[in-house]
Amino acid sequence: MKKIIAGNWKMHKDRAEAAALIDGILQASGDLPSDVDMVVAPAFPFLADAVDRTKGTRLRIGAQNVHAATHGAYTGEVSVAMLASIGVQYCIVGHSERRQYWNETDAEVAKKIGALLRAGIKPIYCCGERKEERLAERHFDVVGAQMKEALGGFNEAELKRIVIAYEPVWAIGTGLNATAQQAQDMHAHIRSLLRTHGSAVTDAVPILYGGSCKPDNAAELFACPDVNGGLIGGAALDPGSYTALVRIAGE
Ligand code: PGA
Repeated sequence: MKKIIAGNWKMHKDRAEAAALIDGILQASGDLPSDVDMVVAPAFPFLADAVDRTKGTRLRIGAQNVHAATHGAYTGEVSVAMLASIGVQYCIVGHSERRQYWNETDAEVAKKIGALLRAGIKPIYCCGERKEERLAERHFDVVGAQMKEALGGFNEAELKRIVIAYEPVWAIGTGLNATAQQAQDMHAHIRSLLRTHGSAVTDAVPILYGGSCKPDNAAELFACPDVNGGLIGGAALDPGSYTALVRIAGE
């Protein structure tokens, strides 16, 4: 399966910095392996500019969040239709920071996924356990329950268009990545849960690892049979380390 390196820029980079980061990645992309899909997710104000800057290139643009409704009185929100109208192709949903700070639930995430699929935008669905859940050895159950709630209502054709990112909360921004074995075990678990929706789904859905993934530890993580790339925070904020990750994913 083709690997994906998706950069989640979070609330970083102003207009000029976002443009410079995109240009830096594009400048380096000539000699990058072609069998890796490259995605970056800047903040909302810079999405349209990012889509324009990357026209005709292999770099795809994603959003970091979306509202499930097509339009309406939702002050401060951005709709799927708005994202589609500027050419955004991916959207991260269910990130643990949104779950933690905005109490986002898997039921809400399911609605966002449905709206994105109807608009032809690929959802990158994030799941993952918190530290205390891993310590209590409940991580497989937690991720299984998240997936059931967020993805359980979709059919085979819909699920085939989703990307999953396993992001253990204790590894995000902490410098403490999951070991290759921990990642592989969870990714295999996620794939076995997808199998209940049919083998076509199992084979089609990329499962990315996220959480302190960087050029130093990526080779080991990406070598795992069920790890199909990464959702990268900190290490995606620099063109050198982002493109290094693309290179490692292509090895
Ligand atoms: P990190 O973030 O790579 O900085 O740990 C990953 C993420 O939150 O998607």
